Amino acid sequence: MDFVFVEKLLVGLLASVVVAIVVSKIRGRKLRLPPGPVPIPIFGNWLQVGDDLNHRNLAAMAGKLGEIFLLRMGQRNVVVVSSPPLAREVLHTQGVEFGSRTRNAVFDIFTGKGQGMAFTVYGDHWRKMRRIMTVPFFTNKVVQQYRAGWEAEAAFVVDTVRADPKAATEGVVLRRHLQLMMYNNMYRIMFDRRFESVDDPLFLRLRALNSERSRLAQSFEYNYGDFIPILRPFLRGYLRLCKEVMETRLKLFKDYFLDERKKLASTMAMDSSGLKCAIDHVLQAQQKGEINEENVLHIIENINVAAIETTLWSIEWVLAELVNHPEIQKKLRDELDTVLGVGHQITEPDTHKLPYLQAVIKEALRLRMAVPLLLPHMNLHDANLAGYDIPAESKILVNAWLLANNPEQWKRPDEFRPERFLEEEKRVEANGNDFRYLPFGVGRRSCPGVILALPILGITIGRLVHNFELTPPPGQDKLDTTEKHGQFSLHILKHSTIVAKARAF
Ligand code: HEM
Repeated sequence: MDFVFVEKLLVGLLASVVVAIVVSKIRGRKLRLPPGPVPIPIFGNWLQVGDDLNHRNLAAMAGKLGEIFLLRMGQRNVVVVSSPPLAREVLHTQGVEFGSRTRNAVFDIFTGKGQGMAFTVYGDHWRKMRRIMTVPFFTNKVVQQYRAGWEAEAAFVVDTVRADPKAATEGVVLRRHLQLMMYNNMYRIMFDRRFESVDDPLFLRLRALNSERSRLAQSFEYNYGDFIPILRPFLRGYLRLCKEVMETRLKLFKDYFLDERKKLASTMAMDSSGLKCAIDHVLQAQQKGEINEENVLHIIENINVAAIETTLWSIEWVLAELVNHPEIQKKLRDELDTVLGVGHQITEPDTHKLPYLQAVIKEALRLRMAVPLLLPHMNLHDANLAGYDIPAESKILVNAWLLANNPEQWKRPDEFRPERFLEEEKRVEANGNDFRYLPFGVGRRSCPGVILALPILGITIGRLVHNFELTPPPGQDKLDTTEKHGQFSLHILKHSTIVAKARAF
């Protein structure tokens, strides 16, 4: 054998071994992970911290572990961020790196593995969905087009409650009426449709399916199968139920709303003047081949979940705080009387003239944040945060509630005190201009629906407080404001009965 050839072969082999060793050293270098409790094999920290990773429990852990910490939930890494500078890093500076969403077996079913917008990874599909949804849903033009409808729906609630003789004595569960109102507010935008009453059979079916979807998705019951993949087979029954609910829901959206709208649209001229409601715009994108019917159905699904429930929970929280703080309720009513005149029914343009109303809404969104950990973010690739290594596909929770309720950052944060937003915090807005206050998030994945949510809240709260004195039911001096948490939701546990005494105008 040629000596030179053997020499080359040996040098080549040696070089490959050296390269392999260097690569394995680099790959296997010890990661510098964020601090956290010491995990045990298989379970990680799950048995130590339990299932309920709600904003308050996570705030208590941040007190011990610091502004960034890591929990190993079985196989999953959960990184919790609790300071304004780190929120800025995740949501803004490294917004692309941390701009995806985590998935799990249950969410894969409900989101069709990210067919819509809210639960899809950051990338081309998300950008396309956001573009397609912006014109029909998320602009001031939409607010101007639909505000009269929202005012009519709020008036309908006021009239229904006024007509109920029990309202002024025993009280009524206002939520029932407000829920119908929120469905109508959103179904007007989507389909130009509304439901006649809380007993409308189609509304009842839709509501039952949506609330079952929420229960199944927000529950902690399925954590074990999510955290420890070898236990996934035990989730089979749960996942089957999720699938059934999802299929029935999508079929309902299709049969009763989408196909109806298509039929109607086929009889109208589909030029730009023929476009009427949001789904017409979305269907145009489908006709152009930009999206398919499944995407269309998931847009409807996203609005049902992201828009209706969050806004309804927030309205309920504002009302509960106003009932429990009669002096604040009176001050708000006085503002409405003084600025608008006694008996004048508030409209969307009026909401901009009412600083105390705005402050009341902001304060409720601060203390009782409907989405207190934002929607879970995720880094698709290995990343670095505050000098720590964050392994790819970690779930990143920003504890927005703690940012807005930290006594080191806010004056007496546990008090419901709207005045703070007219005094020491008067520059703070809900659009994310201050990283201590992010009820709608900020940056690429922030809530695009804020543009609709704030006027709807203003009109609804304004109408109710202007038309009624709202008090707890007889025998109670306060409403029960116990919180109910889900995977990332926060709503009031008991849908309170509220006495609504109509004012005479
Ligand atoms: C008071 C009511 C609402 C609150 C508190 C709220 C809050 C939020 C929050 C915290 C996020 C996640 C931000 C993040 O992960 O960084 C979000 C996302 C989202 N919200 Fe809202 N929201 C409300 C109303 C609405 C409405 C009315 C709509 C639609 C009309 C809407 C549509 C969405 C969508 C589509 C996303 C996902 C955005 C994305 O992933 O890119 N929301 N919302």
